[in-house]
Amino acid sequence: MTRLEPGGGQPLQWVASLPLVIAMLDPFGRTVSYLRVSVTDRCNYRCNYCMAEDMTFLPRKELLSLEELDRLCSVFVGLGVRKLRITGGEPLVRRDILSLFRNLSRHLDSGDLDELTLTTNGTLLEKYAADLAACGVRRINVSLDTLDPRRFQELTRKGELAPVLAGIAAADKAGLQIKINAVALRGVNDQELPQMVAWCGDRGFDLSLIESMPMGEIGELRADHFMTLDEAKRTIEQRFQLLPSDYRTGGPAHYMRVAETGGRVGFITPFSHNFCEACNRVRLTCTGTLYLCLGQDDAADLRAPLRAGQSDEAVRDAILEAIARKPKGHDFDEQRLADGAQVVRFMSHTGG
Ligand code: GTP
Ligand code: 5AD
Ligand code: SF4
Repeated sequence: MTRLEPGGGQPLQWVASLPLVIAMLDPFGRTVSYLRVSVTDRCNYRCNYCMAEDMTFLPRKELLSLEELDRLCSVFVGLGVRKLRITGGEPLVRRDILSLFRNLSRHLDSGDLDELTLTTNGTLLEKYAADLAACGVRRINVSLDTLDPRRFQELTRKGELAPVLAGIAAADKAGLQIKINAVALRGVNDQELPQMVAWCGDRGFDLSLIESMPMGEIGELRADHFMTLDEAKRTIEQRFQLLPSDYRTGGPAHYMRVAETGGRVGFITPFSHNFCEACNRVRLTCTGTLYLCLGQDDAADLRAPLRAGQSDEAVRDAILEAIARKPKGHDFDEQRLADGAQVVRFMSHTGG
C-alpha cells in the first residue's frame, strides 16, 4: 500500500478496509466530512444583505455542468464526505437540478453518504418538494428573515412572501424536516424574532438565527444593521425560556431548546462566538473552485483538472493538496465590519 502525504505533511487517516477510504484531515487535525456545493450564483430574489441590486451573474459557460458537479461530489464522497448540501444562489433555479439530486442519491442508497440536503429560498419548493423527498432528501433549510409581507418585499427587493410560505407548506406535506434560517438584522427583523420562534414552534420547524457576515459589496453599510446573537437571544428570552441542548447537525449552529414550544433555536455566531475550531466543511462553487473557508480567499481550481480530462485520482490529489492548506478560520470581527472590510466575493457565489 503506498502512503500518500498531502502538502501540509499531515498524516492521512487510513481505514483498513478495501477499497481504500482516505479521510480528509486538515493541518489542524479537523476531518472534513461536509461539502457545500453552490450550483448557481443566480437567484430570483436580491436579499439586501446578500446581493447588490444590479448583480452581474456568471456567463453560463463558466458553470460546471450537472455531470461535472456529480463527478466532483462523488470524488468528495470517496474521500469521506458524509454530508452534501446543495446551495446557490438559489439552487432550485438551476435547470434540471433534480437530475443532480437523483444521481447523487445513489450515495445515500450505498450508505456512503449520511445526508443529501439543500438550502433554498423556498420559492420553488411547491414544485420540487415531493421530488426532493423521493431523492432521499430528509431535511431542508429555508431562508426566511421575516414573516411580514411588506418587510419581506423590502428585504428581498420585491420578492413575494406568499410563494415561500406555500413552498414551506408543500415541503412539510412532503415529509421534509424544515429549518428556517433568519439573518438577524437590527432595525429590520430584530423585534420580530420572538414571533418567528412562536411561528416555527407551532409548526415543528427548527429556527436558525445567523449573524450577518461581510461578504460582497452590497452598496450599503452592513454595520448599520449588524447585531450579535447575544442581543437576539436576550430579545427572545423576554418571551421564551431557552434551555441548553446538545442537538447537533454537523453544521455551525449551536442549539437551544425552547421550553414553551419544545422547538429548537440554533445560533450561528461567526462574530460573537467563533466556531472555526470545530469546522468540518469546505465549499465548492458553481465554477469548480474549492474554497477552504467561507471567510478566506484560499482556494483550489478543480475545474481545470476536470476539463483537462484528468482521472479521478488526479482530481482527488488536487483536493487533498487543498485540504492540507485549509486555514484555521475566518477573521471577521466587528471592528473590521465597521471599517467596511469584507471578503470580496458574494455569499451567493460561495454558497454560504
Ligand atoms: P445544518 O445542516 O442545518 O446545520 O445547516 P448549515 O447551518 O450547515 O447550513 P445553512 O446553509 O443553513 O447555513 C446557515 C448559515 O451558516 C449560512 O449563513 C452559512 O453561510 C453559515 N455557515 C455555514 N458554514 C459556515 C462556516 O463554516 N463559517 C461561517 N462563518 N458560516 C457558515
Ligand atoms: N451573512 C449571513 N448569512 C447570509 N446568507 C446570505 N448572505 C449572508 C450574509 N452576508 C444566508 C442566507 C441563507 C444562507 C445560505 O446564508 O440567508 O439562509
Ligand atoms: Fe437569494 Fe438567498 Fe441571497 Fe436572498 S439570501 S438573494 S434568497 S441567495
